[in-house]
Amino acid sequence: MKWVIGVTGASGLRLAHMFLQVLRKNPGGMFERLFLVVSKNAGKVTAAEGSDFNPADFADGFELLSPEDFSAPIASGSFAFDGMVVIPASMSSLGAMASGFGMNLIHRCADVCMKERRRLILVPRETPFSLIHLENMTRLKRAGADIVPFIPSFYNKPESVEDMMRFFSIRLLDVMGVHVPEQNRWGEG
Ligand SMILES: Cc1cc2nc3c(=O)[nH]c(=O)nc-3n(C[C@H](O)[C@H](O)[C@H](O)COP(=O)(O)O)c2cc1C
Repeated sequence: MKWVIGVTGASGLRLAHMFLQVLRKNPGGMFERLFLVVSKNAGKVTAAEGSDFNPADFADGFELLSPEDFSAPIASGSFAFDGMVVIPASMSSLGAMASGFGMNLIHRCADVCMKERRRLILVPRETPFSLIHLENMTRLKRAGADIVPFIPSFYNKPESVEDMMRFFSIRLLDVMGVHVPEQNRWGEG
């Protein structure tokens, strides 16, 4: 499978970091190519939150693409890839995607996913949501996207934020159609 991971400037770059670490291990041996696009504003949030998220750390395992590179393969529907996960997805990027206003490669790739009926999985980060946020998410859902906010599970008895983020990453893989063994799943363990 070929998947794109988009990272935008919403709070929670630690979550993106965890998900990328999980993906880099190529769970289930399912991933043939992985692309990573990080928005310019994600860098500002990283600095403000004191997160150690650095896209260059993922050069091994991911093909790093500039958010300004509209000539990248994933900017075209003719390049066969399976889908994109945007984690975290800022409200301004959601607005751009919901209106088809592609200001960067992440928005353009989302547009490609929707027009080509490929998977688009969005991990929105904001609270509380305004009516505009909710309407944008509804619009995106109607256009085929999955809206998967980081809402931690508690039945797996997490002992740390790391536990919560790791389990969420496994659930995100489930949404992508990749099921890896995890002893803390409900009914297992
Ligand atoms: C420290 C910090 C935290 C932010 N957190 C959020 C957030 O949780 N959700 C959100 O939608 N925007 C948040 N923003 C605002 C976005 O960064 C801003 O809307 C930006 O335009 C997003 O651009 P991008 O989607 O291209 O990365 C935050 C900004 C900063 C500096």
